[in-house]
Formats: sequence, C-alpha cells, structure tokens
Amino acid sequence: MKNILTGIRPTGNLHLGHYFGAVSNWVDLQDKYNTFIEIADVQALTDNFNNPDKVRKNVKELTLDLLACGIDPKKTTIFIQSLIPEIAEATVYYSNLVTISRLYRNPTVKTEIKQKKDLFGNGESVTYGFLGYPVSQAADITMFDGQLVPVGEDQLPLLEQCREIVRKFNSIYGNTLVEPEQLLTKNTRIKGLDGNEKMGKSLGNAIYLIDDLDTISKKVMSAVTDPNKIKKDDKANPDVCMVYYYHKLVNKDNLDTVCSECKNGSRGCVACKKELINKMMEFLKPIQDKRKEYEKNMNLVEQILKDGTNNARKYAINKMKLVRKNMKIDYFE
Ligand code: TRP
Repeated sequence: MKNILTGIRPTGNLHLGHYFGAVSNWVDLQDKYNTFIEIADVQALTDNFNNPDKVRKNVKELTLDLLACGIDPKKTTIFIQSLIPEIAEATVYYSNLVTISRLYRNPTVKTEIKQKKDLFGNGESVTYGFLGYPVSQAADITMFDGQLVPVGEDQLPLLEQCREIVRKFNSIYGNTLVEPEQLLTKNTRIKGLDGNEKMGKSLGNAIYLIDDLDTISKKVMSAVTDPNKIKKDDKANPDVCMVYYYHKLVNKDNLDTVCSECKNGSRGCVACKKELINKMMEFLKPIQDKRKEYEKNMNLVEQILKDGTNNARKYAINKMKLVRKNMKIDYFE
C-alpha cells in the first residue's frame, strides 16, 4: 500500500471549504492507502510564533473536527508535528540543498508574505523560519515516504520544491528519499457565500462545521444572489447565485427543482435561503453529533493523538537512520 501524507495547520476550526476541498477526500483515501495526517503545529508557529495559545488550543479543536468528519484513527495515523524531532532534524540537513533565492521565488511563499504585511513588512522582515517552511514541509513528507500528497492547487509550488530537494538529496547521498506526487483534490476551492472565489477564515466568509442554526441562518440570509432579481417572482439566473452554488453542495436531491423554480420565477430568494439553511443543518448534523460524542470523551481524543504520534515517530526514527547512514553521519552505528 502506498503512503499518503498530508498536513494541516492548527490555526482554527474546519469550515466547509476544508471539508469539500480536502477532508472529505482524505476520508475516502484512508481506505485505500496507508494514510498519515500531520497536525502541523511547527508550521503554524512560523506565522503564529507570537500566539502559542492559539496553536495549542487548535491542536485539540482540529483533532475533534477531523474525527467528526470521519477520519478513522484505526485507518489513519494522526500525529503532532512538533513531537517528531526527526522532522526538525531533516529540515536542518535539507536546508543545505535549497538556496535562499529559490525560497523567495516560491509562489506560495511569495503570496503569503504579501498577505502577512503586519508580521513581515513588505518581505524585508520575513523570518528565517517562515521563509524556510517549504523545507520543513519537504521533511514532513519525506520522513514518512509520502508517495502521494493530497493537496489543493495553492500547495503545488511547495510540492515542486520538495521534489527538487529529494532529487538533490538522492543525487548527492544516494537513493534515500521518495519523490512525492500530488493528488489534486477535485473541489479544491469552495467559493464563499459572499461570492468570493475562496472561503476562508481571514476572508470572514467561512461556514464552520461547528456553526449552530442561528449562525448558519445569519450567514445564509446575507448570501449574494442574482442582482437582477428584485422582486420575489422575478426570473433569475441560478448560475450567478451563491445560494444555488451551496444547494449544489448540500441539497443534491432537490437540485432540479431549485434550479427550474429559480429560472421560471416561482421561487423567492427568502424561501430558497430557508431551504438551504435546513439542508445545511441536515448536512452538518452527523458531523456535529459525532463531534459531541468525542467531546464527551476527551481522554480518548488525547489517546488517539498519543498513539498516532507514537506510530508516526517509529516510522520517522527508522527513516532517519537511513538518512544519517547515507549522509555518513551515523558515527556509532
Ligand atoms: N502547508 C499546508 C497548508 O497550509 C499544511 C502542510 C504541512 C502540509 N505539512 C504538509 C500539506 C505536508 C501537505 C503535506 O495547508
């Protein structure tokens, strides 16, 4: 069975964008592959070094969210990045194989530096740790022989950089590391109810898996609809309506009706939004129920994290032996 490795930063709760864009896919993959999910707390600290409480709190929140979505600890190894020192060690060795200019040119890093002006100015005060996180991400993947990495498009430059490191390492020290391939997620990007191309916490348009009826209602009621539809019985174009976009995700059974009624003017936007609110709550219910079960048993959640981290550690220790041997730094072996 091939190894799959993916990671996620513990910086907030999961929203529908994560669900459709990533996590639902991981749930399917765990049956077919040897799956590792890394809770990337070290990576989260690269731009949250000044906020350790946030990262710590979200390690548990994220684990609860993942389990609620159907990640099964019997099939998937969920582990905490900072508790695998071999990842940090590999990062140091790999950092010799990457130039600083190459890191600056990484499109993902470039975009993120721009977004984080508060922290890094216009790039002139970017930290060594942040600039180097693609190197650390290459260590995440290669310490677990991640052959396939399920990612969204925004992560492709990081994966390309990882492949470069692998090739360079293998050409200098002999065949040691596995070169990963991407497994591009279908629904990579979920649009926001506000019409934004992306749903995200920082964009303020996220629908969280833990949102209650009240919160969902407020968010859906303010969704962007066809601007040409003024009166309740005007005909409209569902393809420009964010409410319809979300019906497509959570109300597949009734989609034809929603679409035709919208087009022929027999469906008002308020009624259409109310139906979406109900369908969304129906969609979220099993996830929220499962989460509540786990919340009642936090000892179990902690044990899942401990066991997953122990398993992952064993794998990484073994892999690191080969790395050290091939780098000729296995002095007393
Ligand atoms: N960079 C990824 C993100 O921000 C998270 C991540 C960390 C990751 N390590 C990884 C993804 C390894 C894939 C493989 O979403």
